[in-house]
Amino acid sequence: MKKIKKWSVFLLSISLMIFSLTGCNDSESVGTATSGDGAGKTYNFKLAHITPPTHMWHKAAEKFKEELETRSDGRMKMEIYPSSQLGSEADMVEQIAAGSVDFGFITAAYMSSREPAFAAWFTPYAFEDLNEANAERDSEIAKKILGTLDQQGLVGLDYLFAGQRVMLFKDKEVKTTADMDGLKLRVTPSPPMQDFYKATGASTEGLPLPEVYSAVQTGVIDGMDMDLDAAITNKYYEVVKHGAVTNHMVWPSVAMVNKSTFEGMSEEDQQIIKESIAAAAEYAAVTRAGQEEEFKQQLKDNGMNIYELDSSVFEEQKKMFDEKYGPTNPLIQEFIDTFRN
Ligand code: BEZ
Repeated sequence: MKKIKKWSVFLLSISLMIFSLTGCNDSESVGTATSGDGAGKTYNFKLAHITPPTHMWHKAAEKFKEELETRSDGRMKMEIYPSSQLGSEADMVEQIAAGSVDFGFITAAYMSSREPAFAAWFTPYAFEDLNEANAERDSEIAKKILGTLDQQGLVGLDYLFAGQRVMLFKDKEVKTTADMDGLKLRVTPSPPMQDFYKATGASTEGLPLPEVYSAVQTGVIDGMDMDLDAAITNKYYEVVKHGAVTNHMVWPSVAMVNKSTFEGMSEEDQQIIKESIAAAAEYAAVTRAGQEEEFKQQLKDNGMNIYELDSSVFEEQKKMFDEKYGPTNPLIQEFIDTFRN
């Protein structure tokens, strides 16, 4: 009996210690997650993404952090983990779903392997330019695609556009799809992106970004699908001669947050998150759209032959996408029907 009493006292003191450390004050931070409701709550969020600090997605992450701090009067703080510091995109999404990381900017290309509807964003030539794509971030269909993340323990918040896709070639100036026949090209391992190239007669290698530079340098590949920003930040101009500005697809990352973290917040705090990410997404797209000419010039100044290739070159690839991918998913079909000119 005496033993039981001793144990009860011990357990009670432990409970009191835990309570005094965590539960007694709504205005105290408890790490990445939150405790209770209330306008005075503080947060220490973590955000992860794959690009280097020079890339627009990282700048957008910094803008998001700044907006959160300002709009919450300093209650919301954030640590950013760029350059795949927390692992591959697959690892990051797992961490976000589990709640050990709060936010992520994850490529729509990777997300399409978890939820096929994200492939809709790779509808070739769906938008005239980056500004037009950015204006549709808020469209019904864009929101429906974000909504599919709900079943994965995630809340899809927004999209961040870092330019459109272009083609870089090591030795050959490609002007027609016939010129691509037989070339081995690095294309992000996303089926609609790879199918676009296969339909030209090229073969595709799904190399991850960090392996691309040496693969093209050593001749393992003849070129790559890329965006202008990444072509500069990764110095591909040192190892490729030709750059065809095709702008054949947009290249969004998906801003997401752990579902329980988000749903555990007050409506006011959720609103701060939504407005902050919208400001960061707007900043990314508008800044990036304004850099198009500057980036092309930078690549030319670094010795590249930069030229434009218009959509008429890729009519067959457009048709292939619509016919192959539309019927696979109602959201992809709705996307094509909404944006195909
Ligand atoms: C790519 O895999 O091609 C890529 C990923 C992130 C940013 C830019 C490019």
